Amino acid sequence: MCGIVGYIGNKDAYPILINGLKKLEYRGYDSSGIMLYDKKASVKKAKGKVSDLEVLYKNGKEQKGCIGIGHTRWATHGPPNKINSHPHLSNSGDLSLIHNGIIENYDALKAILSKKGYLFKSETDSEVLVNLIEEVKKTKKVKLGKAVLLALKQVVGAYAIVVFDSTNPTEIVTAKLGSPLAIGVGDSEYYIGSDPSPFLEFTKRCIYLNDHEMAIISLKKGLTLREIKKDSIIDPYIENLKHNIEEVEKGGYAHFMLKEIFEQPQSIKDTFRGRLLSQSLPIKISSIEEHFNKFKSATRIIFISCGTSWHASLLGEYFFEELLRIPVEVEYASEFRYRNPIINKGDIVIPISQSGETADTLAAVKMAKKRGAFLYGICNVVGSSIARETDTGIYTHAGSEIGVASTKAFSCQISLLLLMALDIGNRMNTIEEKRYKRVLKELSNLPETIEKVLSSAKKAESIANKFLKASNFLYLGRGYNFPIALEGALKLKEISYIHAEGYPAAEMKHGPIALIDKNMPVVVIATKKGNYQKVVSNIMEIKAREAEVIAIVSEGDKEIEVIADHFIEIPECDELIAPILANIPLQLLSYYIADKKGCDVDQPRNLAKSVTVE
Ligand code: G6P
Repeated sequence: MCGIVGYIGNKDAYPILINGLKKLEYRGYDSSGIMLYDKKASVKKAKGKVSDLEVLYKNGKEQKGCIGIGHTRWATHGPPNKINSHPHLSNSGDLSLIHNGIIENYDALKAILSKKGYLFKSETDSEVLVNLIEEVKKTKKVKLGKAVLLALKQVVGAYAIVVFDSTNPTEIVTAKLGSPLAIGVGDSEYYIGSDPSPFLEFTKRCIYLNDHEMAIISLKKGLTLREIKKDSIIDPYIENLKHNIEEVEKGGYAHFMLKEIFEQPQSIKDTFRGRLLSQSLPIKISSIEEHFNKFKSATRIIFISCGTSWHASLLGEYFFEELLRIPVEVEYASEFRYRNPIINKGDIVIPISQSGETADTLAAVKMAKKRGAFLYGICNVVGSSIARETDTGIYTHAGSEIGVASTKAFSCQISLLLLMALDIGNRMNTIEEKRYKRVLKELSNLPETIEKVLSSAKKAESIANKFLKASNFLYLGRGYNFPIALEGALKLKEISYIHAEGYPAAEMKHGPIALIDKNMPVVVIATKKGNYQKVVSNIMEIKAREAEVIAIVSEGDKEIEVIADHFIEIPECDELIAPILANIPLQLLSYYIADKKGCDVDQPRNLAKSVTVE
């Protein structure tokens, strides 16, 4: 986590840095800081959001300096206060550093440096690193670039760092292992970001640093890229980005989350583009075409992921087992990577990740790769670490997702999983033709159907008003709707801080029913088909215990509309499509409850969009 920005060139650095930090705030917002160089380095830090830092700079007009670095923090070592904020200075005050990641052996390094007389003001691992670089620079009598390279050889852990030396104020040095880092290339100027959003408005030419790479960026000599382990020079590969700036603006919506919920029809269109050409043409997914034999002979598919992407994986299991008849397992990446799992030849491992940077998922990918699995990645961020580590895969094309709580990326993940399962199942003959055609037709109309579901936003808003004082919620669903119950509950707790639990509806009797009384609202996903009648019985059992029921039902359902206290309709559809639609009113419900409670919807406390530490 944490967001890092940097600038070196001929423009005023301050506006670039502060606006860049605002764009990266989704990566952490416990505290922030900036170092600007104008004849001397000056550092300002503030606890809280980037807007709190901005206050210290008044209107920013006085801020001179064409070199600077900035950081927005998600606390790992030490509480979120001013002292622990970045940039960190070395003991001499010459070096300043920003860091995203964790230095695992910082304790040992700190002990060595302390013996040599170094003093530490903060509790952070990052302050240890800047002093280690200073120590190497001093004792080896080398320039900053070499000192960074030698120091990093002693470091165990993950980092994206930017370092500046005020005794040689014409260059900055940056390096990466594990955490993401992008460099924007302008005309005689360079930008640095944890992702390209801070510099997209200035340049679309971007170098993504790979692990074990560092760049020395000099006003005099331009950019030199080095491989850290071999200490060799490499040719940079400059990508021309296709992102557009509007994607990272709110476009008239009160929050990114609301904008992203309403963008779902378009995101799904983008995800299906070139793949689902029409309901009468075969699905075209090149990575499946190319590797179909792997799927055909697969003995097992293992999904690995975290958070919302784990819920997508769970639904993936339901889709894939139903339509492919291949055994599927779903694993939390954080468990999988540490539990010595059995991976056989013939296993396909599918990591799912919006950011493509989640540390646990990335580590699980690396481990599965080492053990010989075939890796098929599903990521949203193009060029992300997981996308690059996997053998092949597919992008979701949901567009930039800024709201910390995932909405459109999840919808694209589950729609794409269904499209993939249909394609592979059709090729393997494990799906009945009539069903294949029916579901494909519904998938082709999905963007329009979702538009229709979004028109229930007002209803979700009025229901939300009634539950602002609730302190617990239960979410129930069965079959394909069970992963959606989990996701609905997660969405509510993430942004409204109301405790919520998702459960398979039938499991309610084995515990949660003890909690049900008039103070426990229960959201039930009760779409037609599947186990509809059994879910109706569950609703009766809940009503018998006086809880208020909010039901997500199929259009025209008269039975549940009579027994539930509140209901939202979704169009009647195949049971494979229902979870994709049912999820949308739940997103809206969480959004309106959180917003009306006055919560920070886009940046909920303690969370971060991209969890690049384990
Ligand atoms: C964080 C985010 C979640 C996300 C999870 C996995 O916890 O707040 O919204 O689902 O990470 O992220 P990924 O990028 O791997 O999908």
